[in-house]
Amino acid sequence: MINFITAGESHGKGIVVILEGIPAGLKLSLDEINKELARRQKGYGRGKRMEIEKDSAEIISGLRFGETIGSPICFIVYNKDWRKNDFNFENKGKTFQETNFKRLLNPRPGHADLAGAIKFFRSDLKDISERSSARETVGRVVAGSVCKQFLSQLNIFVGSFVTSIGKVKVNLDYLTTNYNLLIKLHNLAEKSVLRVTNMAVEKQMIKFIDETMLKKDTLGGEFVTFSVKNPIGLGSHTQWTSRLDAKIAFSMMSIPAVKSVEIGMGKVCGTKFGSEVHDEIFYSSKLKGKNLKFYRKTNNAGGIEGGISNGEPIIVRCTMKPIPTLGKPLKTVNIKTKKQNFADIIRSDVVAVPACSVIAESMLAITLTNEIKIKFGGDSIKELKKNYKNYAYLTQKF
Ligand SMILES: Cc1cc2nc3c(=O)[nH]c(=O)nc-3n(C[C@H](O)[C@H](O)[C@H](O)COP(=O)(O)O)c2cc1C
Repeated sequence: MINFITAGESHGKGIVVILEGIPAGLKLSLDEINKELARRQKGYGRGKRMEIEKDSAEIISGLRFGETIGSPICFIVYNKDWRKNDFNFENKGKTFQETNFKRLLNPRPGHADLAGAIKFFRSDLKDISERSSARETVGRVVAGSVCKQFLSQLNIFVGSFVTSIGKVKVNLDYLTTNYNLLIKLHNLAEKSVLRVTNMAVEKQMIKFIDETMLKKDTLGGEFVTFSVKNPIGLGSHTQWTSRLDAKIAFSMMSIPAVKSVEIGMGKVCGTKFGSEVHDEIFYSSKLKGKNLKFYRKTNNAGGIEGGISNGEPIIVRCTMKPIPTLGKPLKTVNIKTKKQNFADIIRSDVVAVPACSVIAESMLAITLTNEIKIKFGGDSIKELKKNYKNYAYLTQKF
């Protein structure tokens, strides 16, 4: 099994991630990890924080001479915007109350601020907002990059692209069995400041973001993340906790601000006939590059049936809600005075959908790596690859 946890506050010393379960013998590139971190920082409409940070991961454990050794892998990404005064780890004789520390007292609607402060009995909202901040996702992208490097050993590729920002949409038929098309869409998105595949729509989106910025408001949007060349048989129909679609939905929902997850055709399928939705099955003995010669002409299921991967591209679509910190703040109540007030203004993004799609790629890569470990086992890459090949061989005999 793959497991990872993160630690660290947004303006603390740094973000730490510990990832365990990666087999020994995987050659890891730190450059690749840092490239992924840079992808997470991009996007038109981001706040000033992203100009301050230049994220770079330092390895603490789990690697020798560039190869994993099977032990937990630990990384730290230091925060350039470390606010030392805010993060006085010891009290040095002074209680929090005795310092003239400025507290945050006006909880932002749409954030964990109020419910978190009540739940953990904290009189400064920073005790909540610093950890609930999406800065934490730096750790996920580091773990995700390790998993992407693992998946590439089996030729599995994970990508993404943005399909809407606010009301501006890209019309795109991405529900496909053609993995080259999905990779092409991902590569186009890589060239866009909004990770979109259509530069004319990108222009409209930029205009809309600029207008929103002037109104001191914020935006959300939608994106697609996918994986191609997946083996048949990840996940299982045999228990509710084993279903791959359920695990993917959980991992996507865990990303701050993600409010809906759809696999394949998603919610639209509820408005259609069965004959318009389900992907008919065909067979050709001439098919190359597939475990089995069964194939589909459509991929409305998004690569998963009955909680099991069916070998077609896995296609997931998510909605990110608008950023909750507004330049023109919403009404709230001061937690100390209990008087009506406006929410605290904290330096913030106007829109972060492109970054969110990169984080979603990481979460998908981590989820798939976990499934591959469950299905094929192996403490070393060599052993795992042998098991994987043997399975491909077995399925030919099916
Ligand atoms: C990449 C990314 C960047 C974000 N940037 C901000 C931000 O600058 N300001 C903000 O208020 N929320 C931001 N958010 C959203 C909040 O983290 C999120 O809405 C909040 O933690 C509440 O969680 P919930 O939306 O899942 O309920 C960002 C989220 C992501 C994924």
